[in-house]
Amino acid sequence: MGEKGRQIVGLDVEELLADLNRLYADEWLAAYAYNYMSQVVTGRPAAKQLAALLLDTSKDELEHQQELADRITSLGGKPVADISKLVEASNDGYPTPPANEKDFDAIVRAVIKAEHDAIEGYNKLAQKTHGKDPITYELAVHILTEEVEHEDEFENLLG
Ligand SMILES: [Fe+2]
Ligand SMILES: [Fe+2]
Repeated sequence: MGEKGRQIVGLDVEELLADLNRLYADEWLAAYAYNYMSQVVTGRPAAKQLAALLLDTSKDELEHQQELADRITSLGGKPVADISKLVEASNDGYPTPPANEKDFDAIVRAVIKAEHDAIEGYNKLAQKTHGKDPITYELAVHILTEEVEHEDEFENLLG
């Protein structure tokens, strides 16, 4: 961790690390849930298409956790180490997949709810870091842009 890089952050770094770690946990949980739903979704010809979109989106969330981990470690923090603590460490909890894997709309709605939570989380992070921590700000805007795209892609499936 660069001392100067940490010094120029015009925010409480420990508080910022806590914010980043909650988002980190959210990303792992979303990646897991989307990946899981991509594996079990069934029941219509379009299931393959939904499964592919879920898997692609899951990969985006995995990229987000990696980007957050990079920022956390560069600020001298550590990402959440204990997988059994991920849910309590998160902002939004686990986006529980619907019990019925044939219920497309319920699956899509579960994703959209998680994306809404992500959009709120990154928008807050962008506002908090604006003018204070350009590196985290840029990261927040980058991820926020992709979460907005995710919301859009899944909303389009509801028709
Ligand atoms: Fe994400
Ligand atoms: Fe997303």
